[in-house]
Amino acid sequence: MDSSVEENEEEQNIFCNIIAAFKCYRKTALESVNRREAYVNSLPKNHQEMLTKYRELLQKLRCCIEANDNVIKHIVQDADCLFYNDSDNLFQSSNLKPLTMPKVRPQDIQKVTLKQIFRDWSIEGQSERNQCYKPIIDEITTVFSPLKCNVEDIKILVPGAGLGRLVYEIACRGYYCEGNEFSLFMLIASNFVLNRCIVENQCTFYPWVHQYVNNLCRNNQIKSVTFPDVSPTKFPPKGTMNMVAGDFLQVYKDLNYWDCIATCFFIDCANNIIEFVELIYSILKPGGIWINLGPLLYHFSDIIHENSIEPTYEDIMIIVISCGFKILKNRADVPSKYAQNPTSMHQSEYNSIYLVCEKPDSVPIEMKK
Ligand SMILES: C[S@@+](CC[C@H](N)C(=O)[O-])C[C@H]1O[C@@H](n2cnc3c(N)ncnc32)[C@H](O)[C@@H]1O
Repeated sequence: MDSSVEENEEEQNIFCNIIAAFKCYRKTALESVNRREAYVNSLPKNHQEMLTKYRELLQKLRCCIEANDNVIKHIVQDADCLFYNDSDNLFQSSNLKPLTMPKVRPQDIQKVTLKQIFRDWSIEGQSERNQCYKPIIDEITTVFSPLKCNVEDIKILVPGAGLGRLVYEIACRGYYCEGNEFSLFMLIASNFVLNRCIVENQCTFYPWVHQYVNNLCRNNQIKSVTFPDVSPTKFPPKGTMNMVAGDFLQVYKDLNYWDCIATCFFIDCANNIIEFVELIYSILKPGGIWINLGPLLYHFSDIIHENSIEPTYEDIMIIVISCGFKILKNRADVPSKYAQNPTSMHQSEYNSIYLVCEKPDSVPIEMKK
C-alpha cells in the first residue's frame, strides 16, 4: 500500500478512537455512579437511612451526566467537518495532521476537556484567566503597543493553546495569533466553541460532577456552568486567529518567523524542556519576545515508558541563557490556578514562573560558534 494511503488510514483510525472515547463518556461516567449506588445498597439498613440524601445526590449526578453527554454529542457532531476541513469554519484548523498525538482515554474527557471548558469559556473561569492569561496579554500590549506598531503585522504564536481562549483574546486586540495544539480532545472541543457557539451561554454542563471528594455541600458537585461567556462567532476578533494541529516540535520549522511566542502552562509538557526552549528561540525573529507563565509540573515525570527530565527553576535560567535569550523579566511567585473547582475543600495554586525573554537582535560572537 502507498505510504500516503497508509498515513491517511492511520489518521482516520486515531480520529475514530478519539470520537469513540467521547462517545464512551456517558457509559464510563454512569458506571462510576452505579458502583457507588450498588455499594450503598449493600450497606446495613441503618447506614442506608443515614445516606438517603446522598442516594438522592447519586440520582441527580445521573441527570448531570446525561446533560454533559448531550453537550458532548453536540461537540462531536461537528468534529467531522474539522477533520475534513469545512471551508465555512470561521477559524480554520489548518494542518490537521495527528502528528504524534497523545494516547487517549475516556476519563480524559472528564479530567481534561470539561474542566478546560470551565477555565477558558465560562464566566466562573474569569478569575483563573485573570491570573494566567492577563499578565501575558498585558505584556503583549505593552511591548507591541498599538501606539508603536501596526498590530495586525505582529505575528504571535501560542503553543499548547488548549481551548484557544488566550489565542482569541490576543486576536481580539488586533494581532495575528496562531494557536497550536496536539490533543484532538482539545481541538474538537475548541472547534465547537470557536465555530459553532453562536450565542453566549448556549450550553449548560456540570464540570465537577466527577469530583466525589472534598465537597462541603452536595449541591457543589452538581453545580451547573454555562458556556461560552462570549461567542467568538458573534464577536469575531479584530485580528486574525488560526488554530494549527500537531506536535509543536514537528509543525514549526520556519526560522526567525514569529514576533512573539506566548506559552502558558505549556513548557513542562515536554520530555526534554530544552527542545522546547531551543525551538522557541530558533523560530522567533531576532528582537522577538518569548513570554512564559506556568509551573514546572513536568507532565511526563513518573509516567511509565516515558522519558523525563525535571530541571528546576534555577536550571531553567541556565537553559534559557545558554540558548541565547536575554532575560527581561523573571519572577517565580505568580499565583495561578489550573481548572480548579472554586467550591472544593481542596485548592491548589502554583507560584508560577513568569518569564519575559528577548532573542537578541545581534547574537554575541561566542554564541555564533
Ligand atoms: C496544561 S495544558 C495548558 C493549556 C492552556 N495553555 C492553558 O493555559 O489553559 C497544556 C496543553 O498543551 C498541549 N500540548 C502538550 N504538548 C504539546 C505539543 N508537543 N504540541 C502541541 N500541544 C501540546 C496539551 O494537549 C494541552 O492542551
